[in-house]
Amino acid sequence: MKEFTITSKVEVYSSESELIQEERDLLQSARETADNAYAPYSGFRVGAVLRMDNGEILTGSNQENVAYPSGLCAERVALFHAGTVFPSAAATHLVIACQSVNFEVNRPITPCGACRQVIAEYESRWGKPIRILMAGAKGEIYAVNGIGGLLPLAFEANELKR
Ligand code: THU
Repeated sequence: MKEFTITSKVEVYSSESELIQEERDLLQSARETADNAYAPYSGFRVGAVLRMDNGEILTGSNQENVAYPSGLCAERVALFHAGTVFPSAAATHLVIACQSVNFEVNRPITPCGACRQVIAEYESRWGKPIRILMAGAKGEIYAVNGIGGLLPLAFEANELKR
């Protein structure tokens, strides 16, 4: 038996004041975007902001449904929107923030597994790593440079080839 170990480098910022101004602005935008979530079932509001390399900023918030699986996470709303309106642009940053109507979210949230897979698809389509920032309503902020930090051993298009 052989084995290998996978490690990820996650940057941890103690608060948004440690971020560079541009990232602080993107986080502020993600927080405002979370206000627009449609989350009557979970009360958990998520905002995702994409900074595109053409200078555009795109947003998405989670959109829930009474048939729960029919809803969609903020990250995928934003990414599918990007693929729709700017099919030739790539995102440099994905910034995620959240809030809850039930409690104070004092730690970062990280994207769900399905969103990680979708982020991986766009990253491979765009051919460059996306810097992903993850925040709660307050507290530390995590950052990774590329989805590999959150989704090691991802299933990729190569696996479909001989
Ligand atoms: N949610 C997101 O939008 N993004 C995440 O990264 C985690 C979870 C949403 C899905 C659902 O509407 C609510 O948060 C609770 O899971």
